[in-house]
Amino acid sequence: MGGIDPPAVAAAIVVNNMLFSHYILITLGATVISMIIYRIAIHSVQDIRTLTCLNNDSQRYFKMPNPKFGWIKQHLLYAPLFRRRHQQQMRIGPVETGILPTRFQSMLLAGIIAMNVILSAYGIEWNGPIITKLEHLRNRSGTLALVNMIPLVIMAGRNNPLIGWLKISYCTFNLIHRWFGRIVASLAVAHGAVEIMALVIRGRKTSTPGWESFSGTLKEVRFITFGFVALVAMCTIVLTSWTAFRHAFYETFLHVHIALVSLIMAALWIHLDGLPQMAYLKAVISIWVVERLIRLSSLMYRNVGRSGTNADIEVLPGDAMRITLRLARPWAFKPGQHVFLTIPSVGLWTSHPFSIAWSDAPPQQLCPRDLEKGVRTSQTSAQTIDTLALPQTSVSLIIRRRAGFTNHLHRKALATLNHHLSLPALVEGPYGGTQLLQSYGTVMLFAAGVGITHQVPFVRDLLAGYAAGTVAARRVLLVWIIRAPEHLEWIRPWMTTMLSMPGRRDVLRILLFVTRPRSSKEIHSPSSTVQMFPGKPNVDALVEMESREQVGAMGVGVCGPGGLGDDVRAAVRRRQGARNVDFFENGFGW
Ligand SMILES: Cc1cc2nc3c(=O)[nH]c(=O)nc-3n(C[C@H](O)[C@H](O)[C@H](O)COP(=O)(O)OP(=O)(O)OC[C@H]3O[C@@H](n4cnc5c(N)ncnc54)[C@H](O)[C@@H]3O)c2cc1C
Ligand SMILES: *[C@@H]1O[C@H](CO)[C@@H](O)[C@H](O)[C@H]1NC(C)=O
Repeated sequence: MGGIDPPAVAAAIVVNNMLFSHYILITLGATVISMIIYRIAIHSVQDIRTLTCLNNDSQRYFKMPNPKFGWIKQHLLYAPLFRRRHQQQMRIGPVETGILPTRFQSMLLAGIIAMNVILSAYGIEWNGPIITKLEHLRNRSGTLALVNMIPLVIMAGRNNPLIGWLKISYCTFNLIHRWFGRIVASLAVAHGAVEIMALVIRGRKTSTPGWESFSGTLKEVRFITFGFVALVAMCTIVLTSWTAFRHAFYETFLHVHIALVSLIMAALWIHLDGLPQMAYLKAVISIWVVERLIRLSSLMYRNVGRSGTNADIEVLPGDAMRITLRLARPWAFKPGQHVFLTIPSVGLWTSHPFSIAWSDAPPQQLCPRDLEKGVRTSQTSAQTIDTLALPQTSVSLIIRRRAGFTNHLHRKALATLNHHLSLPALVEGPYGGTQLLQSYGTVMLFAAGVGITHQVPFVRDLLAGYAAGTVAARRVLLVWIIRAPEHLEWIRPWMTTMLSMPGRRDVLRILLFVTRPRSSKEIHSPSSTVQMFPGKPNVDALVEMESREQVGAMGVGVCGPGGLGDDVRAAVRRRQGARNVDFFENGFGW
């Protein structure tokens, strides 16, 4: 390779390439740090707000918007790229083809892409002979492709620490992960294309210039062969990650993805043998391995011993199931958390994410140490060493039947006598649970269908906090959109519990929208605080109504299909400048 520049110059250029790729890491690191500082500032503001609102029922000061920050939220942070669409899938016919980033995400991504384009070309000797130029470009693009794999692999992990620090969801990181994937693949394609050009123009030591020079090298030079393998695998990985394929065949996608990643790592290991850039590959592989080990140890810790984890599955009307997990090792549950559930007898090793809709430990007050202590005291008082008799806390999920694992499970449960099934299971987690709503005087939570699982724990937590005087919340409105009244069954026992919590009538109102009632008789409002309506809600009117009566700052959350999320987002954006309103979104997919 090379040999045109004197060795000293070549060494300087290698150093330079590494230097340029360090710029990328430094810039990304600085971005993360500034976002952490922003998060700390927001957190402090919210803490102060919670404190000053505890004994303050009017909270008038916090209702007023900060015009500048309101503008930023309206036009940048919450804004979809164009008019309305962010989470709602773009489609070609019935095929989902992907989502558009928000304006802020687009700016970040544009910055990252621009940085890579500039660094690919900056400082390259453009006046020299073509071969030198190609060689420089090749080395630069290869190094940059590698360095971008570091953020790529960090963002792929469920245990990415940035999720908690920045309060950016896995789902959003996943979107950025896909863009980093495209950047890495594009740089790799450029790297390969430039090398092929160089080989064809210059030829090799043994052959004359021309196409043979490339095909010959490909066959004979291991370094080139494996570089080419990695390149082809990278292009395949980008193509198979397309939303249409990912959503239709998630399990296949995942297995192909992991296999291709392993292939790329192995091929690059050979390709980079003896080069300084190997350091990046080692970093990438280490991050990947560590993340996998954390997952494995979480899985072991949560499920091994103490008679393991058990799933009680109960079929519910409306194509759903309630799963109650008896946990081997409980944790202090926080609203907004989800777990990955594996039921080997149904789905082998595959794991699926589900929000925790309910836990039988009181929310928040318990810390894990108390729980373990509780377990120990009752153990001695029960005077038993039978591990099955140990009191085990449980969490419950509501699962809507889809086409894969959830369908198999549903069918298996339906086939039993009383539509009730108990199976050994594995849980991994908890994940998520980074959203805090206690500083909002007014909370509005939208849910559609099974999206209610995400919102129920927040409602329960706010009610408990209201009774205990530990939250700012004075008005909580839950808006739940369901197809048929029978879906109410999903959460009926928990709803009854919540509706009888102390102080509930002062704070909580529930609006139920039944989009496809069979008859008008099905629609009746049990009380003035729980009302039922036929049809779809007018989201904008509801947000307007609530913001007229707003107490303190208002937080609006949504969990449901992308279209609903986009409607709520638009309604919140429209209120910026008039009121202090924040927006939170959770979807059930990536
Ligand atoms: C954070 C989070 C919380 C969720 N909470 C709930 C909940 O409380 N109740 C509920 O019913 N559903 C919930 N879901 C959705 C649930 O994970 C999927 O419906 C389920 O995995 C579908 O399994 P399936 O094999 O039957 O899917 P399929 O019918 O094969 O696919 C249906 C959809 O689910 C997606 N999907 C399938 N497997 C996975 C997976 N392992 N990881 C991510 N997406 C997948 C597919 O891409 C597709 O879009 C949640 C999803 C996420 C990401
Ligand atoms: C490109 O990288 C190779 C391998 O590290 C090195 O031998 C060569 O000198 C480099 N060439 C230039 C122009 O940087």
